[in-house]
Amino acid sequence: MRIAYPDLCFDEVLDLKKAINSGWLTKGPYVEEFENMAKDYIGVKYAIAVNSGTAALHLALISLNISDGDEVIVPDFTFVATANAVEYTRAKPVFADIDLKTFNIDTEDIKRKITNRTKAIMPVHGLGQSADMDEIRKIARERNLFIIEDAACAMGAKYKGEFCGTMGDLGCFSFHPRKIITTAEGGMIITNNEKHAKAIERLRDHGSIKKDGRVYFYNCGYNYRLSELHSILGIAQMKKLKSIIARRQEAAKKLNTLLSGIDFLRIPETRKDCEHIFQSYVVLLDSGSDRDKFMTYLKSKNIETVGGNHALHSQPFYKNKYGYKPGEVPNSFEAGERSAALPLYPQMTDEEINFLAQTVRGAL
Ligand SMILES: Cc1ncc(COP(=O)(O)O)c(C=O)c1O
Repeated sequence: MRIAYPDLCFDEVLDLKKAINSGWLTKGPYVEEFENMAKDYIGVKYAIAVNSGTAALHLALISLNISDGDEVIVPDFTFVATANAVEYTRAKPVFADIDLKTFNIDTEDIKRKITNRTKAIMPVHGLGQSADMDEIRKIARERNLFIIEDAACAMGAKYKGEFCGTMGDLGCFSFHPRKIITTAEGGMIITNNEKHAKAIERLRDHGSIKKDGRVYFYNCGYNYRLSELHSILGIAQMKKLKSIIARRQEAAKKLNTLLSGIDFLRIPETRKDCEHIFQSYVVLLDSGSDRDKFMTYLKSKNIETVGGNHALHSQPFYKNKYGYKPGEVPNSFEAGERSAALPLYPQMTDEEINFLAQTVRGAL
């Protein structure tokens, strides 16, 4: 059993043939259609498709003029791209700790980490569940900070009825195959701010602007464009987004029931005000358990698992660059050592769910 399977089949993307035969492979009508579908689903004014979630974060940061000498607060427990995107701008990612119940950023630690160089907070809606956005918006308002939502894992997730990605200045999605929907590789930035959207559109395409039938380059931009072929996958996935989320939630609910009451393992907690969409199903083992042994045992039963996420302060690059000591961001470090993501995907059958739960219990 693999950790994830994208819910996508060839019959859903027959337009690939049409696009290939047309010879028009990038920056065309399929990209626009994909963007429009995302705009309509989320209810946002601008959606700009790019070729990865990392590119989305990078452009979001640049559009806010974040650069040398600035600091951006990010959760320590996340995929490394969250912090790397800040590094690309030559600003400094400052790691805030997480709440071990939800694996999301600890808002009290955000307050402790703010300095007079802080320009933005970049909360991650980790594993498919929103961060505590009321509190984050309050902090940002009081300190005049931007909010970039790293919603890489949370397209379609909600907080108090609001979609993840719409609660800050800019929101970023990833369409990597382990995400809620996939374009193989891809990402998107959403915003209601016209100025940011126009800057991002330009930066995605080498900083170019068309004027009087000519192209001018106003910035040293990037090639972060998404292709027509990838957008065709995105269109097919958007049509199924609602049902993909429903089936993920159903599988997670069954797993919660079957895995509750195991004393060495904590199942993921869903906050009352959140619609968790379970991009990953991450459990936390107690301090007396050997997480790596647990994962090896599951592997011996043909069940793939990975660590729940990474404690970034203890990764060689960040440790060496900023002098962090492993464990200095304590909850994140604990989660990095003791969490495991179990398989969860929309097509999961009841037999697979039962087998997974029985095997996890057997690990005792
Ligand atoms: C929280 C988070 N941010 C950013 C990214 C980067 O997305 P991508 O792999 O599409 O560049 C990922 C994906 O792995 C992620 O999980």
